Amino acid sequence: MAILKVAQLGHPILRQVAVPIPPEQIGTPEVQQLIADMSHTMHEYDGAGLAAPQVHVSVRLVILDLLDEERVLINPIITPLTDELVRTVEGCLSVAKMRAAVDRPAKIRLQALDERGEAVDLELEDFDAVVVQHECDHLDGILYVDRCDTTTLAFLDEYRRWGSLDTLAERMAEEE
Ligand code: NI
Repeated sequence: MAILKVAQLGHPILRQVAVPIPPEQIGTPEVQQLIADMSHTMHEYDGAGLAAPQVHVSVRLVILDLLDEERVLINPIITPLTDELVRTVEGCLSVAKMRAAVDRPAKIRLQALDERGEAVDLELEDFDAVVVQHECDHLDGILYVDRCDTTTLAFLDEYRRWGSLDTLAERMAEEE
């Protein structure tokens, strides 16, 4: 297994729309090797998920921790199931050492194929729904900084010191 280089914000591959993987190719050594290398890379950098374009391969494949296990999603389709939004502080291995608050649909349906080519069809809520949406956005060239509340953007050191800026105003009001 190899640790792959992670593309950083500004690399054009992060802005491309990735191509689907033909289902009959999922079992090939190339795809299986990519999955193994992405798993190794995600753990090396302690990420919650990783999309293939982040390792310079523009195909519709993501790997992520979901429902307490590592999952592979190939050619995923997301359908929002509610207008209700959930706000989460997100980070991304391709936007190193930053955090920001992002509002996303709180409940989704996820349809995809797994690493064996078998169908995945799940309804997900809250954090699980957020992680899937973040990773799948990468397949369409979208980064969380495109969707975030930009007034909450913070460097990781400052985020750790001060907390999320969307709650800071509330906390300061309480302390007065
Ligand atoms: Ni990301």
